[in-house]
Amino acid sequence: MTDLSLKIDSFLSKRVLDLEESQTFALEKRADEIDMQLKNEGDFVIRFGIGQPDFNTPSNIKYAAKKAIDENKTRYTASTGIKELKLAITEKFYKDNNIKYGIENIFVGNGAKQVLDVIIRTFVNSGDIVLIPKPYWVSYSQQVILSEGKPIGIEFNDNLKVDIENLKKLIKENTGKIKLLILNSPNNPTGAVYSKKELESIGEVCLKNNVFIISDEVYENFIYDGIKHHSIASFSKELKDLTLTVNAVSKTYAMTGWRIGYCAADSKIIKQMAKIQDQSASNPCTPAQWAALEALSGNQDSVEEMRSEYEKRRDYIYKRLSSIEGIKCNFPQGAFYAFPNISALFGNKLRNSFEFAEKLLEKTRVAVVPGVAFGDDNFIRISYAATINKIKEGMDRLEKFCKEL
Ligand SMILES: Cc1ncc(COP(=O)(O)O)c(C=O)c1O
Repeated sequence: MTDLSLKIDSFLSKRVLDLEESQTFALEKRADEIDMQLKNEGDFVIRFGIGQPDFNTPSNIKYAAKKAIDENKTRYTASTGIKELKLAITEKFYKDNNIKYGIENIFVGNGAKQVLDVIIRTFVNSGDIVLIPKPYWVSYSQQVILSEGKPIGIEFNDNLKVDIENLKKLIKENTGKIKLLILNSPNNPTGAVYSKKELESIGEVCLKNNVFIISDEVYENFIYDGIKHHSIASFSKELKDLTLTVNAVSKTYAMTGWRIGYCAADSKIIKQMAKIQDQSASNPCTPAQWAALEALSGNQDSVEEMRSEYEKRRDYIYKRLSSIEGIKCNFPQGAFYAFPNISALFGNKLRNSFEFAEKLLEKTRVAVVPGVAFGDDNFIRISYAATINKIKEGMDRLEKFCKEL
């Protein structure tokens, strides 16, 4: 090893060194290793870890991408996306969410994750606070840290949703230092869906205290039992002005690898976000934008087909989890995750969610994500974006594992 490579850390930015290494990555890597060993035995790891649809991208969307490539729609585009797609996004917001935007209000980026990163970089100065309801999707806090901001978690109530009193207390304690609040309904990891009334109460607090809202609605199409999705920006002009509504084609159309996400906000904000995009990614992938246009404006049957399949899986997994002694699970109303509390099973053998997930993987070949990755060590996250047979086998193994603890 050279002297230079020994000293490499001292050359790297504090920003990047401060980022947490993903604990789940270590477990995913271990699951890959086990899968390699099991290949010869005809067995495999049952993977409930990853948060992506197990369906294929619908063929009309794939065809639109192929056509775009054949028509040489392969060059740079405007940094915030092609006009045709932005127009389709405004139509989607009007039709599905009852929010009226013009194309100057739309930003298209490389997946919702990159859009969120650009928003956070647009708002956050060093030391600024971003409020994030616990438990949270892991990238929110790490993106805030990358912008040298300070993520603060808001405690949850019995329904695993924002505790409004805690929100008010945090705002009072940090007057003038809070830039943003990140909402996510339907929620990853809990599957909770916020009602109109709950969102109105949060909106009222944000309006009173001038806190901008990021509303991450990437799971809006996966809601069950006839419950309705509400976009906080649709409630009033004031809330629309204060909100950045984020969405993507990734989950809705089984397009996670295409990397197209988008956001709607005041045109002044979009202009500043475009500056970042211009100097970093240039624009979202061109053929993928044409595919996203077909996704949003073409036949929507596949969305309902996937939704109803997820609902059946949700019903099954909830029933199975609820029958396991020591596991307590809130009823997930949306997304494709169950977030059971496993803390009653902790003891000398297993002391936290990471050890639980690690042992479960080693002993039974079932991969889940430890709750600590989402800011709470009493839970595990189980993605039910898997076939019902796999879910059944996984639940059998989990049940046996818990019984033997
Ligand atoms: C809550 C939430 N927001 C955003 C994303 C990112 O979506 P995309 O794949 O479009 O970047 C995810 C992905 O898992 C998510 O769970």
